[in-house]
Amino acid sequence: MCGIVAYTGSSQAIPFLLDGLKTLEYRGYDSAGVEVLAQDGSLAGVKCVGRVSALVEKCQTRDLRSTCGIAHTRWATHGAPTDRNAHPHTSCDGRVAIVHNGIIENYRSLREELQARGHEFRSETDSEVIAHLVEEALRGPAAGDVVEALRRATRRLEGSWAVAAISADDPGTVACARKGSPLVLAATDGGAYAASDITALAGITSHVIQLDDGQLARMDPSGAVTVYDASGSEVAKPDTLDIDWDASAATLGGYDDFMAKEIAEQPAAIERLLRGRLSDGRINLDELDLTDDEIAAIDRIYVVACGTSLHVGLLARRFIEGWARIPVVAEAASEFIYEDVLVTDHTLCVIITQSGETADTLAAARKMHAAGAKVFAITNVLGSTAARESDGVLYIQAGPEVSVCSTKAYTAQMVAATILALLLAQKNGHMATGEVARRFRELARVPDLMRVVLDRSWQAKAAAREFVHAPSALFIGRGVNSATASEGALKLKEVSYLHAEAYAAGEMKHGPIALLEPSFPVVAIVPRDSVRDKTVSNIQEVIARGATCVAVATDGDEDVASLVERVMWIPDCPENIVPMVAILHLQVLARYVALARGCDVDKPRNLAKSVTVE
Ligand code: M6R
Repeated sequence: MCGIVAYTGSSQAIPFLLDGLKTLEYRGYDSAGVEVLAQDGSLAGVKCVGRVSALVEKCQTRDLRSTCGIAHTRWATHGAPTDRNAHPHTSCDGRVAIVHNGIIENYRSLREELQARGHEFRSETDSEVIAHLVEEALRGPAAGDVVEALRRATRRLEGSWAVAAISADDPGTVACARKGSPLVLAATDGGAYAASDITALAGITSHVIQLDDGQLARMDPSGAVTVYDASGSEVAKPDTLDIDWDASAATLGGYDDFMAKEIAEQPAAIERLLRGRLSDGRINLDELDLTDDEIAAIDRIYVVACGTSLHVGLLARRFIEGWARIPVVAEAASEFIYEDVLVTDHTLCVIITQSGETADTLAAARKMHAAGAKVFAITNVLGSTAARESDGVLYIQAGPEVSVCSTKAYTAQMVAATILALLLAQKNGHMATGEVARRFRELARVPDLMRVVLDRSWQAKAAAREFVHAPSALFIGRGVNSATASEGALKLKEVSYLHAEAYAAGEMKHGPIALLEPSFPVVAIVPRDSVRDKTVSNIQEVIARGATCVAVATDGDEDVASLVERVMWIPDCPENIVPMVAILHLQVLARYVALARGCDVDKPRNLAKSVTVE
């Protein structure tokens, strides 16, 4: 979603600001803008709808030499994607500029109030009120101090925000504030930096300052960063985080797109995640941070997530219930937050979120915390809000996932959920140590099984032809692979804009079968497992209606091959492992369909990498 970068120091601001925006492009956006403190002491800015590359071109037509500035990529919430609604927003006198991520819930009343006092608004956004509130504070009690002005402004706001502000009345200072939307800063000899996403600070520092909710920061041209609490008192020891950057992680490294790169990275990511997780037959998951007694007492688990991460949650439910015999509810966070959930002192909430910033998931976790449950996060992003607000965190260590379409985080999260299920089963005595070790050994085969599937990418490429001109597609699977079907359909519609629907195979005859007609493409996930024969019957039903069936099947299953149009083969592997292996074919399939349809696989329209608004 929206992205923020800011700089003040001794170097030119524009190169960092524009590079930073490019780094944040993956989050999804529809317009971009930049505002600097110009050499004559006024503010100067450029903004436009479209790509950062368009903004770069526009910037070249203006004199934007400056050592202090703020920049933004906007994902429209309030107001259409237009030049006027793009950030930064300025005050009436043009002496204040702000960029904002989040939602100001009381913006209507603030806007009316400010208009009644003579403020003129230029955009339809909720964010613009912040510029006018800062302007008023600078004219009054906070004269000449943009940080104090922003502090006073934020006291009037309801909702969520990460804000960076500059003012011609406080030259060289960048003021920042955070509530509910992430903001990280860096203090360096060459200047002070801020970004809504840690990746924009790669190559700048390995030591970042994380603002907590309610905190503000002053970025000084000397490179110093001072953090304040909501009352304006200096915070002696702000929260910091040391990052071990892998410089190549956020570059394409020879791949055509990040989706291709991240699909290929899956075996290595799983190897990293599994390292050291089993010793002497026991699962190591100290991150859960619960005593054996607490684990034994868990009476119910809520697994809460969104999108792809929710599909992991559906599997987590099966694994935990099946192995640890603890009742599990897996639910979309956006629904969960409005439900009347049953929580006792022994209830555990597991949130699964690649970004660690998904607003609905965070709201669900806060709700569970407030109700007295412990919250355990499975996430990818170091120091993310989910990680910081949870009682325990398991980092999946998949490395930066840049493509909006989640691939490597999906499989790594599945492996993480499996480790959690094994630990719970072992600790509460429902699975014997030998069985745990056996299951773990199965898990350890996943990277090599994935490599085999990746070597067979041509099979998914060939199958893609069946979909390129289709109006719609249906994905079916049973048991653990009903989640695989859901994830496969999500991948396809997300990157290729081809409508796709997933159904538990046995449910097909209760409705979706009406869609089938000659050449309608159906993907059946039909490994050789306990429900294979039932799924084969469903494939027969598909074929009887003249539809085109493409299967993901186990090596050597010639019966399936003789029924369907095409097969994407997976090596023989245990039932619980199949979802981690079969999905690779469906990821590759979605990518090839999208490329054939001329879509930008890394930045699908309308989508954001991390959805930071509810
Ligand atoms: O960062 P999160 O895992 O919390 O994100 C949840 C969803 O927004 C995300 O998985 C989304 O569905 C992906 N774009 C799917 O590829």
